[in-house]
Amino acid sequence: MALQQIKVPDIGDYADVDVIEINVQVGDTVEEEDSLITLETDKASMEIPAPMAGKIAAMQVNLGDKVSQGDVILSLEVTEDLSASDDKSAESSKVSDASAPTPIETVSSSSENKTSVTDSSKNEVVSDGKVQASPVVRRLARVLNIDLNNIVATGRKGRITKDDCYAYLKRAVTKMQSGGFGGNALDLLPDPEVDFRAFGEIELQPLSRINKLSASNLSRNWVKIPHVTFYDDADITDLEIFRKNKKLDAEKAGIKLTPLSFLIKAAAKVLEAFPSVNSSLSGDGENLVIKKYYHIGFATDTPKGLMVPVIKNAGQKGIYEISSEIMALAQKARTGKLKPDEMKGATFTISSLGVLGTTAFTPIINMPEVAIMGVSKAAIKPVWNGEKFVPRTLLPLSLSADHRVIDGAMAAKFLTQYARTLSDIREILL
Ligand code: COA
Repeated sequence: MALQQIKVPDIGDYADVDVIEINVQVGDTVEEEDSLITLETDKASMEIPAPMAGKIAAMQVNLGDKVSQGDVILSLEVTEDLSASDDKSAESSKVSDASAPTPIETVSSSSENKTSVTDSSKNEVVSDGKVQASPVVRRLARVLNIDLNNIVATGRKGRITKDDCYAYLKRAVTKMQSGGFGGNALDLLPDPEVDFRAFGEIELQPLSRINKLSASNLSRNWVKIPHVTFYDDADITDLEIFRKNKKLDAEKAGIKLTPLSFLIKAAAKVLEAFPSVNSSLSGDGENLVIKKYYHIGFATDTPKGLMVPVIKNAGQKGIYEISSEIMALAQKARTGKLKPDEMKGATFTISSLGVLGTTAFTPIINMPEVAIMGVSKAAIKPVWNGEKFVPRTLLPLSLSADHRVIDGAMAAKFLTQYARTLSDIREILL
């Protein structure tokens, strides 16, 4: 065995090109021509294939790095024979350029004008138009006998990745094992195919990658989790007085103090007392995984769709710290700069539609979490205090819970405790 340093090959006139995908990791065995990394210029994406077979010994680039021709991508462990023959041609430098990059292809699917068709199982809707996939992915699809038209793309710019192929295969196997389409699996009718043009003018708006990913996740979560939604109002009159008093101070420190930071802090506090609300079902359905950390996700509306950044260890952070993290993460989400790590690890999610104005809604649980808090618009309403009606600021809360894990009594207790904590924010200190 010998180590070969694999370098960025000739990529034309480009320099400082973004690494947008790392397709291998240390320990992986690759064949010649397997894709190592994907680069993206302002004009095109290109995959850098392995110049030879071997085992990845070390990675020298990271996601988001900028690279130019000659930069080392990784170290590859290759058999002596190979490296020896390379040594001859490369004057024993033990450095190889990766193979010439392969541009990401976009090709039309076989049926140009189709809008949507179903596959042979009659239950998977096939997307229309064009599929985008690299030659490596196309080769994999051929080997696995998968029609790329059937695959939901999760790669950048709507590209199908190797993982998409494996995920498709996994779903197909799971479907077969659970009784195919006639057994215990959902035996749904295919989506209706309607030519809307028959009824009037239409316009096609392509869905963003985030839209498509959200759609798949939301559908799965809605179908698999038995949701029950519980409603209550939190009296946030005192909290609002406190917040408005502090707002100017916060602004001087560059912080926008909204109710959301209090909602996040209170959630982390109340979850401590309700371990199963801060849990997940284990994959085999045998255990409840109770998490001893409290990471709170918050739904964020972005031009490309809904994203859920996460405030880690929210219970250990002050309100100002949480507020400034919300601002920073929401800004990153809206400008497409959120890193994958900043969206991972949530144990509970808050979806606040407050600023948009609803009275109640059913938020969909973000699997593998088991509960989510929907927040609607606070309003001043008359409340009977035993003697007279007094104006109080009420915040409508909608808690959706996974009924497999959280029964009605527990959900009601959690929601009541949460509303009480928001009503008297001193509870957070206890
Ligand atoms: N009731 C009344 N007013 C509310 C409120 C509520 N529940 N929540 C926030 N507000 C107010 C804020 O106090 C602020 O007003 P102020 O400046 O006078 O204090 C104003 O609304 C704007 O708040 P916003 O800028 O939206 O900040 P935020 O911290 O409340 O929310 C985000 C930050 C990122 C969550 C928010 O901008 C967002 O994207 N919300 C949409 C989430 C979504 O789409 N959920 C749906 C999932 S299905």
